Amino acid sequence: MKILHVVGARPNFPKLAPVHRAGVARGVEQIIVHTGQHYDEALSASFFDSLGIPIPNFNLTVGSGSHAVQTARIMERLEPVLLEQTPHWVVVYGDVNSTLAAAVVASKIGQRVAHVEAGLRSGDRSMPEEINRLVTDRLASLLLTPSRDADERLRAEGEPDDEIVFVGNVMVDTLLRAVELSGLKRPATIAPDAPVAVTLHRPSNVDDLARLAQIVASLREVARTRPVIFPAHPRTSAKLAASGISTDGIDMRGPITYEEMLALITRSAAVVTDSGGLQEETTVLGIPCFTLRDNTERPVTITEGTNQLVLDMSLIPGLIDSIDVSPMRRKVPEGWDGHAGPRIIDALLSAQR
Ligand code: UD1
Repeated sequence: MKILHVVGARPNFPKLAPVHRAGVARGVEQIIVHTGQHYDEALSASFFDSLGIPIPNFNLTVGSGSHAVQTARIMERLEPVLLEQTPHWVVVYGDVNSTLAAAVVASKIGQRVAHVEAGLRSGDRSMPEEINRLVTDRLASLLLTPSRDADERLRAEGEPDDEIVFVGNVMVDTLLRAVELSGLKRPATIAPDAPVAVTLHRPSNVDDLARLAQIVASLREVARTRPVIFPAHPRTSAKLAASGISTDGIDMRGPITYEEMLALITRSAAVVTDSGGLQEETTVLGIPCFTLRDNTERPVTITEGTNQLVLDMSLIPGLIDSIDVSPMRRKVPEGWDGHAGPRIIDALLSAQR
């Protein structure tokens, strides 16, 4: 069997690594295409190095642009690669523009698409990722789901049962491996001056300057009592710089590596974020997580994990003050066990026959 992985943006890389490793173990022929959606060392190459992913066979170097421009460039440059490679499966990950573009190109030339992280829905079509998820799932012929709610959602949308395979959360494979390799452990008690780790990059938070100002004001209030460490995405740094919003008191940093982020959240009292990945990672590690969004496509992080949506930004300081710093009791969702990568390769092998 020959599979061709298409990845492009930071959250794709920790999902690719375990699938690629499991493919190597099973002797599967694998090609990696990097679209170049993310290109900075800190958002891309550093992840390939630290996660042990080989250098991509193809880099389409599409770079940044509007959604239409970026998606179109990926489609145009990917098509000849797929026509030349003729894989049994084109495997796409998550919900970024690279995921959508690859699913459209592959399915139109009759190549079968497998979607890792299928079936997640926020119900909010103002998010570009929601459009990417909906279209990718309609086109994919193998829907590899991370949680049971995703199976139900896909069935309710009319996807046939035999195309839906529950495999669990592949990003957790990477997380548990990194925890084991690093020996990092969450302290039994979290010091009262332990930091709060912050990440924000969603357009709904950072492109709306009034909202961004509110969030930053609340974080500065938190910073009066404990360190607030904020490794900012380039989109967010650019918005902050252009708007002149003061971040005084907040420890602003550039993007950090996967290992640095893991070390930071492990020692943090709590995480404040709008990232999908961090909602999941904090659930597995038992770290309180406050998600600055009106909705989440990852409901098990709320019903079973440590995640809480925050709709009113002025509540952030009070929520941080009232967290229970003793290790949180939580349930880790089914299939978030470190073995999703091999299950994905098994599913691809059996659906190929
Ligand atoms: C993308 C994904 C989002 C994901 C996020 C993780 C889409 C629609 N969005 O958002 O789902 O959560 O990645 O990071 O696919 N930039 C750089 N260097 C880079 C890449 C981008 O400086 O290597 C800057 C550019 O100014 C660019 C902006 O960041 O215009 C946004 O990049 P883009 O890939 O369009 O979206 P993200 O916000 O990164």
